[in-house]
Amino acid sequence: MTEIDFVPSAYTADREEGSVTWQAPSNIALIKYWGKRGNQIPANPSLSFTLNKCLTTTTVSYKKLSSRSDNFSFDLLFDDLPKEDFKPKIKSFFVKIEEYMPFLKDYHFLINTSNTFPHSSGIASSASGMAALALCLMDIERVLNLSADEDFFKRKASFLARLGSGSACRSIDGEIITWGIHKAIATSSDLYAVKYSDEVHKVFKNYRDTILLVHKGQKQVSSTLGHNLMHNHPFAAQRFNQAHENLVKLKSVLASGDLEGFVAIVEQEALTLHAMMMTSSPYFVLMMPNTLKIINAIWDFRKASKTHLCFTLDAGANVHLLYPKNEAAEVLQFIKDELVVYCENGQYICDEIGIGAKKL
Ligand code: PMV
Repeated sequence: MTEIDFVPSAYTADREEGSVTWQAPSNIALIKYWGKRGNQIPANPSLSFTLNKCLTTTTVSYKKLSSRSDNFSFDLLFDDLPKEDFKPKIKSFFVKIEEYMPFLKDYHFLINTSNTFPHSSGIASSASGMAALALCLMDIERVLNLSADEDFFKRKASFLARLGSGSACRSIDGEIITWGIHKAIATSSDLYAVKYSDEVHKVFKNYRDTILLVHKGQKQVSSTLGHNLMHNHPFAAQRFNQAHENLVKLKSVLASGDLEGFVAIVEQEALTLHAMMMTSSPYFVLMMPNTLKIINAIWDFRKASKTHLCFTLDAGANVHLLYPKNEAAEVLQFIKDELVVYCENGQYICDEIGIGAKKL
């Protein structure tokens, strides 16, 4: 498919007003997306677990304008209260997707959004937020154009979410998702994410992700700035190759259930992401002293307990702990005994792999 396939032909139905609500999850990348070109095209393929409890719920109420507007007409509420500072991001999202959603200037929208995870917890809400909004808009388009089938619906929702925030395209479906062209994944695309449909060992079916909130609050480096640091980065080409190779390795690990292999790939990906930031110009260290203390404690615990607990990181100081369900009791005890002290206000979130967004 190409971008043109997402431009709808003239709408076949009309609707004065209505309201839709979608809930979309966050996701955690195992193979990291870091670096992009052109219009949100990833520099390398990525693979993620969809989460289950870190969710954004968005309701979009829409009402037809008496005449088509020259501008986008919308109001935004966060937790039922007006949130002016979120509006520029939504406006630029509308600008990017207008070509694919021509009805946008025919309606006034009231967007009401809330997250299940604490505000400014350092967990990016852009993935779940953009995915939930894209799904609401798709649902409105479905009313105006009754012909869209389920696969196309999800694919276009992912395509739109990607234009809002790259990793958001992986927050439509579950449980394992890939985005970005890779020669070993036949259906892969740079334009939207797809459900990983190769063999997956049962140990990964209910994998856990406990997120340790090491540093809440604003990210030190916005992801836009971060991705741009990969242009002219001295190690960019090697990094992009490594992601392709790690995805091949991860494919066989996912099929065989080789947890040691899983740990090695996932931790290398996390540390490479941070190594890229430490060696860019300008350079950044996004880990905090407590991030490193947690990583060292995990390594000691893994050795002593013979469990398969491992970590991954996003572009920040928080740590995602990944482990199979049958090791949960031992790992949770370890978190309480040894890791909670490194979390801001002792806060952490217990999540697990999930099945994707749903309509409420
Ligand atoms: O979606 P963005 O532009 O915020 O980029 C997110 C990038 C990482 O979270 C660091 C990695 C990933 O693949 O999710």
